Amino acid sequence: MKQVFVTRKIPEKGLAILREKFEIKVWPGDIPPPHEVLITETKQADAILSLLTDQIDSEVLNNAQNLKIVANYAVGFDNIDLKTAKNRGIIVTNTPDVLTETTADLAFALLISAARRIAEADQFVRNGEWVSWGPRLLLGQDLYNKTLGIIGLGRIGAAVARRALGFNMNLLYYNRSPKKDYEKELSIKKVSLQELLSESDFISMHLPLNQASANLIGEKEFAMMKKSCVFVNTARGGVVDETALIKALKTNQIFASGLDVFAQEPLKEINPLLKMKNVVLAPHIGSASIACRNKMAEIAALNIEAVLEGKKPLNPVLY
Ligand code: DGY
Repeated sequence: MKQVFVTRKIPEKGLAILREKFEIKVWPGDIPPPHEVLITETKQADAILSLLTDQIDSEVLNNAQNLKIVANYAVGFDNIDLKTAKNRGIIVTNTPDVLTETTADLAFALLISAARRIAEADQFVRNGEWVSWGPRLLLGQDLYNKTLGIIGLGRIGAAVARRALGFNMNLLYYNRSPKKDYEKELSIKKVSLQELLSESDFISMHLPLNQASANLIGEKEFAMMKKSCVFVNTARGGVVDETALIKALKTNQIFASGLDVFAQEPLKEINPLLKMKNVVLAPHIGSASIACRNKMAEIAALNIEAVLEGKKPLNPVLY
C-alpha cells in the first residue's frame, strides 16, 4: 500500500480521501514536526501532504526515495525546494482558487481595521479608558473614494480590488506582466511601482515570495508613501523589509499597517510590532475559514490521489 505522510491534522474531509486508498500517517499536535523528524518520517513516503510551516528542502526530498508528490496545503509554495523537486522528478501541487475569496476577505478586514483603528479601539474600551464620546477620539482614515494600490495582481489581488469597488475606490496595480482582463473588468490601472507607492492611500501586497519579490518594499519604498497610507500584507512576510516597516510605523512615515504575515512566524516576544498601536496583527489566518480549510484539505488529498494513481494532478506547480 502506498504511504502518505501528512505533516499536521488537517480537516477530516481530506484525510478520509487518503485513508480510503493509502496508508496514512498524520503528525499529531499543533506544531510542525521538527525538521529531523520530517526527514525520518518521510523516508518511505510516496506522498507528503505539507503545510507552509514545513521546510521541504533538499534534505527531505533527497532522503525520501519513493516520493512522487508533495501536495502543499497552501497556495504559496516558497517552503518547497522546487529545484531539487524538479531534479528528482517529484510533482509539487498547491491549493489555489479555493482560498482566493477567503484571503481577500481577510486582506480587506485588515485594511478597514488598520484604517479605522478597530483593534486599538477594542483595547481602549476593554481597558476602561472610554470616558466620553470625543471629537478627536481614535481618528482614522476613510476608504470611500480613496486610491488602493495592489502589488501583485493575481487572483487574490483581483478579489481584493473587486471588494474595493464597493467603496468606490480608485484602483492601481503593479505587476511584472500586464493583466488586461482585470484592467477591463475592474477599471484598474497598471502603473510603475514608484507611482503606485506615491499615489496610493492604501497598499495591499498580493505577490508570491521568490527571488524577485524578496524585500521588494523597504526603506526607500516606505519613504515614497503618503503619511496617511495604510499598508496591508497578507502575502508573505519576506516581500517586505520588516525592519523598514517598523521604522515607517514608528516615525509615522505611514499611518498604519495590517499584517497577517511576518519575516519570522510566529512572532518572537521581542518583535517591536507587538508593542505598536498603529498596526493590526493576525497570525497568518488568510485562508482560515471553516469552509476554505475543508476545501484545501480536499484538494490537497485529491492531488495526492491523482498522482499516486498515475493521473495528472489537479493543481500542478511542478509537473
Ligand atoms: C497560503 O495558502 O499560501 C496562505 O498564505 C494561507 O493563508
